[in-house]
Amino acid sequence: MTQHLTRRGLFAGGAATMVSALATRPSAQGGESQEAGPGVGHTPAPAVAEPFDGTHQAGIATPPQAHAVFAGFDLRAGIDREAIGRLLRLLTDDARRLTAGRPALADTEPELATVPARLTVTFGFGPGLFAAAGLKSPVPALPSFKTDRLQKKWSGGNLLVQIGSDDTLTLAHALRMIVKDARAFARVRWTQRGFRRTSASGETQRNLMGQLDGTVNPTDLDRAVWISDGPDWLRGGTTLVLRRIRMKLEEWDATDRVGREFTIGRRLDSGAPLTGRNERDEPDFDQVTRIGFPVISEFAHIRRAHVEDPALRILRRPYNYDEGLSREGRSDSGLLFASYQADIERQFVPVQRRLADGDLLNEWVTPIGSAVFAIPPGCAPTGWIGDRLLA
Ligand code: HEM
Repeated sequence: MTQHLTRRGLFAGGAATMVSALATRPSAQGGESQEAGPGVGHTPAPAVAEPFDGTHQAGIATPPQAHAVFAGFDLRAGIDREAIGRLLRLLTDDARRLTAGRPALADTEPELATVPARLTVTFGFGPGLFAAAGLKSPVPALPSFKTDRLQKKWSGGNLLVQIGSDDTLTLAHALRMIVKDARAFARVRWTQRGFRRTSASGETQRNLMGQLDGTVNPTDLDRAVWISDGPDWLRGGTTLVLRRIRMKLEEWDATDRVGREFTIGRRLDSGAPLTGRNERDEPDFDQVTRIGFPVISEFAHIRRAHVEDPALRILRRPYNYDEGLSREGRSDSGLLFASYQADIERQFVPVQRRLADGDLLNEWVTPIGSAVFAIPPGCAPTGWIGDRLLA
């Protein structure tokens, strides 16, 4: 087994953590080994701790955990650059402790902190945070797309805290500690909870429409995801576009299998492109049927979303959401579509525009929430997230 001993790993705190990290983590956080991206990995032991400190924040290249919550906060009036710094010092300390399986300072339930189950806590800065700090935002506002039906209650936010874990109790506790410590500085704007199959089996996860979701993702994160130019404080960071996309599952249920596969351009069982046999086969977009029609439709999701240049691909790390049923039994379900990329305008926007302009999938999915964040790089064991910007 080839393993990379990363700085992040060494800082993780304690031999036990290191041993479990070595035993369970084929992919690296430090950017040295990117072959095993999200969706690839193996069964995590419950006590496994994901290192917090390092070049990049955890929770992005980390093989996705089974559960996640994305919490969007709005800063309270009067919270300025200095106060944002205090808030981030506090929240970094909470995150560093909790991810290592230690209680937060003044933890009200320290017993709930002992099983990190690959807990990660990732911070992001929305445009409003930069405004409050008197700084220029490096993240653009998204243009509006034809298919958007955005609701305020799922959109925007000054500060993002993304928490992931394989244990829902750990997740709930971490969120509670973060919210408690943020309370004097910020209000919760929204929380969005999601779930997915872990990377335990090494197989690509499925979304609620039953499709294998996550087959094509960038493998060279140093080029596609981590920022290497621009402001110094952002190098080693990235950006997140979080879209809440509702699925009309009852209408999807009424569509036959041929129609469903035609919509995506891939088979439901194997995830293979309609022109191939296996999930990882390259789609042949030029192949035509006997009567001359493209096998993968001009409007199939994978054709519209495809990006040739690997450096311009987005890293998709989606979670399913399911908020229960109406009295008539209609679902409130969909995808928390989390897209990480070095450059939103060059990577995310063109793909989203092509999809909005003509994707067969639009019949069944509607974006109802949208938020953008700059994700600062990771920090040293003595540092805090955002220190290079706000100190
Ligand atoms: C609920 C909404 C969506 C569903 C159900 C969905 C589903 C899928 C599925 C099943 C695939 C094929 C397997 C794979 O490569 O993962 C795929 C590919 C992809 N999707 Fe989506 N998707 C959704 C929304 C989006 C959005 C909003 C974007 C970007 C703006 C996007 C970008 C992509 C990309 C880049 C690929 C890979 C295309 C390629 O083969 O090169 N998807 N999606």
